[in-house]
Amino acid sequence: MMATERTLIIVKPGAVKRGLIGEVLSRLERKGLKISGLKMLWISREEAEKLYSVHRGKPFYEELIRYITSAPVVVGVIEGDDAVKVVRRVIGSTDPKEASPGTIRGDYGLSVTQNIIHASDSKENAEREIAIFFREGEILEYSRADEAWL
Ligand code: RTP
Ligand code: MG
Repeated sequence: MMATERTLIIVKPGAVKRGLIGEVLSRLERKGLKISGLKMLWISREEAEKLYSVHRGKPFYEELIRYITSAPVVVGVIEGDDAVKVVRRVIGSTDPKEASPGTIRGDYGLSVTQNIIHASDSKENAEREIAIFFREGEILEYSRADEAWL
């Protein structure tokens, strides 16, 4: 049974500055996930506080906000069967030192703050986070060539 979902990803500032936008997006594309919204922007303090509201008060909160607002990012809406879970698996564990080789976080660094990419952790958070960065008209409906086989 197909359960098409959508989720938000953010290619974080460090990955943009290291020239890894293409490599990160291409791992999601080759997995069979669909990019249905995509833009480059500089996250404001207000947007960062909304995005990371669950982390307010934690020891790493201020560093997290400073980092995500330190340079441009690429935000994307990613769609597919069980997309929330699948994207989290492609990305790997939060701490890149624990993330398996073959995952995005496992392959591109060691720093937990600069862990390359964000992805929503539930369907509810995905919708909440997508709304911070996208208007519905910016999310485009189309089929991937590998979706329909009839
Ligand atoms: P994300 O939200 O970025 O997709 O990452 P996540 O769900 O795997 O991890 P989460 O617990 O939501 O933490 C958000 C981001 O905060 C940074 N962090 N730093 N210094 C630390 O102990 C620490 N813990 C988390 C990471 O950049 C993580 O992605
Ligand atoms: Mg999270």
